[in-house]
Amino acid sequence: MLNLISIDFNKIRIDTLVIPVCEDKDIHTRPGVLSIIKKAAAYDDFKGRKDEDIIFYNPSGINAERIILLGIGKFEKIDVDTFRSFSGRAIKLCIKKKIKDAALMAPAFSRVEADAESVVTAMAEGAILGNHIFDVYKSEKKDAPVSKIDLISNNTIVKKYRSLIEKVETVCEGTIMARDWVSTPPNDKRPEQFIEQIAQACRKEELDVTVMNSADLKKGGFNAILAVAAGSLSKPGMAVISYSPETPKQTIAFVGKGVTFDSGGINLKPGGSSSNMKIDMAGAAAVAATLITTARLKPDVQVIGVIPLVENMPSGNAARPGDIIRAYSGKTVEILNTDAEGRLILIDALAYVVKTYKPDIVIDIATLTGACLAALGENVAGVFSSDDELAEALVRSGRKTFERCWRLPIVDDYREKLKSDVADIKNVGDTGWGGAIIAALFLSEFVKDAKWAHLDIAGPAYVSKAGSYVNPGGTGFGVRLFCDLLSSL
Ligand code: BES
Ligand code: ZN
Ligand code: ZN
Repeated sequence: MLNLISIDFNKIRIDTLVIPVCEDKDIHTRPGVLSIIKKAAAYDDFKGRKDEDIIFYNPSGINAERIILLGIGKFEKIDVDTFRSFSGRAIKLCIKKKIKDAALMAPAFSRVEADAESVVTAMAEGAILGNHIFDVYKSEKKDAPVSKIDLISNNTIVKKYRSLIEKVETVCEGTIMARDWVSTPPNDKRPEQFIEQIAQACRKEELDVTVMNSADLKKGGFNAILAVAAGSLSKPGMAVISYSPETPKQTIAFVGKGVTFDSGGINLKPGGSSSNMKIDMAGAAAVAATLITTARLKPDVQVIGVIPLVENMPSGNAARPGDIIRAYSGKTVEILNTDAEGRLILIDALAYVVKTYKPDIVIDIATLTGACLAALGENVAGVFSSDDELAEALVRSGRKTFERCWRLPIVDDYREKLKSDVADIKNVGDTGWGGAIIAALFLSEFVKDAKWAHLDIAGPAYVSKAGSYVNPGGTGFGVRLFCDLLSSL
């Protein structure tokens, strides 16, 4: 769907060409492009400021039906994500205008500070992700995606990065898969149904999939998962997906929180605060989509994905505050708040993967706490790890992909807040403070001495307002991040 090409403007007619224009510096060198930017400068309504645009129809100098100039702001503020956003905005504008064939102009790499590979990657990502529309539940499909996108640069760049585009497309397909799962309403992804969807998608790839049903979970002693699922009429499950190349350098395991709807359980969420809790399986979606993408990219690393799936509902069968269960690891847990359910399903999955696979690295990803959302807002994930190297690797991949991660501390002296009078541990702290840290401390009790990181994506799993390359709904956060991390190992 997306091609990286070079074009002789005199020879080929273009339908729509979109050009990024900087407010205070020329970032292009082609005479035709420069002359149209100069022409625009004569009008007061376009100065290249961020969010400005101007359209020329059948302009002279370039053989195109339309040329759209899109402002990207001041030169010193430009970074790689500026180009990702440019592409997203360009494609969204084309969708609005019902344009089917769009060409996006890359800057002249001699004129920007960012390296060509990062900019080409980002532009391709922005275009593909900005072209994604979740409208399966709309009777009338108002907008349709652009059907053909060309990214235009010179011959050298095209030769060098053509194969890169294929990889970017694969990774973005993974992101879109995760987005769609997250945006799907909770009545269409109840645990038994969703686990089947995941398994089916995985079976199309070279992946090994095992689905544990509730009987398997009972036999295996996954009592924390079972306790969370007890109130729901849909039975829980756990998917174990593995990608195993012949000579792996190491083994990395991902564990994703899969709560298909979080009502809070007996500690029912108040008012409208559960209206968006279909997103509580965003960690699971990110892990499943990462595994599928991994099977297509074939890195030299063994990758395991473990996805516990439950629905957290109140009922006569639901777990009660005060219940004590024996988790998979053998430790007893006092459930004092049924709304702190994510950490319960995660401890069984984490303990299982550490024991069974002894991975070199374990990373869990979860929409775990409102506290993390309060601390870092909607665009940044919290990273917790006692391993500096792993935390830094995640932060670095976050910077590169703009799936931003900020390291938060695991404060050891808070550990005593999880002491229970009657069991080995309780699932919530004494006070409401430091909720994201307390949750991370709780998980840490079940990973033994594995090299482990925990990602709290309560903020960035979902957006309520459109961004440059995302529409309201699931963001697919984690897929691009993890794929970059895997390629850096
Ligand atoms: N799924 C929620 C966390 C959440 C909140 C995700 C907002 C996305 C947006 C989680 O299960 C939860 O309810 N956490 C509680 C924990 C508390 C009871 C200790 C919270 O954060 O309030
Ligand atoms: Zn909850
Ligand atoms: Zn939850």
